[in-house]
Amino acid sequence: MAGVVPRLPTDLNRLEEMAERRLGPGPVGYVAGSAGGGRTERANREALDRWRIVPRMLRDVRGRDLSVTVLGRRLPAPLALAPIGVLSIMHPDAEPAAARAAAALGVPFVLSSASSTPMEEVAAAMGDGERWFQLYWGRDREVTLSFLARAKASGFSVLVVTLDTPLLAWRPRDLDQAYLPFLRGVGTANYFTDPAFQAGLARPVHEDPEAAVLHFVGLFGDPGKTWPDLALLREHWDGPIVLKGILHPDDARLAADAGMDGVVVSNHGGRQVNGSIGAADALPAVADAVADRLTVLFDGGVRGGDDVVKALALGARTVLLGRPYAYGLGLDGQAGVEHVLRCVLAETDLTLALSGCAGPAALTPALVARF
Ligand code: FNR
Repeated sequence: MAGVVPRLPTDLNRLEEMAERRLGPGPVGYVAGSAGGGRTERANREALDRWRIVPRMLRDVRGRDLSVTVLGRRLPAPLALAPIGVLSIMHPDAEPAAARAAAALGVPFVLSSASSTPMEEVAAAMGDGERWFQLYWGRDREVTLSFLARAKASGFSVLVVTLDTPLLAWRPRDLDQAYLPFLRGVGTANYFTDPAFQAGLARPVHEDPEAAVLHFVGLFGDPGKTWPDLALLREHWDGPIVLKGILHPDDARLAADAGMDGVVVSNHGGRQVNGSIGAADALPAVADAVADRLTVLFDGGVRGGDDVVKALALGARTVLLGRPYAYGLGLDGQAGVEHVLRCVLAETDLTLALSGCAGPAALTPALVARF
């Protein structure tokens, strides 16, 4: 019977502890770490836990269909893999393994700018799998434009622009462990292989890796950006653009006014503003403000299908899965990510059915109550 026992637990909450035992505190500290005392990360869970599903009965849920249309693309389920930088810290197969897992299940893979693998290699690993590119919109205009051109040439369809990281936050676990992944040259190969990035260096990366790392640190964020600057991205990206890190309904309205296509309600998994609002607490007001103008996506604390169902009921069209897949990758490479995805998809399907819903469209705020 050993063959039928999954290698990884089906309760995804157990993955972190298992990963820490197998991989040690360094890699897991990178993924688990958050800003300050971790209040926002806890708020994400508390916010989801305060919402409870109120199931409906006798609604014929035999013909279930999880598929959704998001940003003009038909997806098999309302789920995508969130951008997570430097996945080589968790597993040597890194981003290509996670991307292949996403492609195997038809779920979009959102590749981080801070990928440890050049985006062209990730794209090649995925075949025609749905891929979105997450932009860290830094100081160097040429690097930004080069990233957009490379992403487009590599078949990335949606641009996800992360706005909550003009600076990296105070992250005690990274600081205490001196484990700042971005300072490890190997971690940022996507930047290091970029021609515009290389043009900013006095000497090639291999001759002076330390200078290259410092150059990266200098251009990574940009605290000077304001809303009118989005025009540059609109001009150079002809596909959908989604702004990630939106928590205030007024910012969601500004995103719509700026001609954007969507927002991700997110606080970066509690890694930026310690003490900020839990993502699920921010979701209803953002959805109320812009759901008729923009596609609303969500992440923050999603650990199972029940969380997916709650987020959809609160107005999200699709949910991004973060830390659990990074642990799955660390524990078992591509197979580990596939395991995590299968668990979330199966539990989403079951929770929908048991709540009396044949598909995501049946989920409305009337299906949840807040306590
Ligand atoms: C992230 N996140 C992130 N976001 C982004 O836009 N670009 C990035 O490179 C990263 N990198 C990253 C690394 C690690 C280790 C984590 C945990 C998170 C944020 C990510 O996309 C998502 O918003 C959060 O992971 C959601 O929170 P949970 O559900 O993972 O707790």
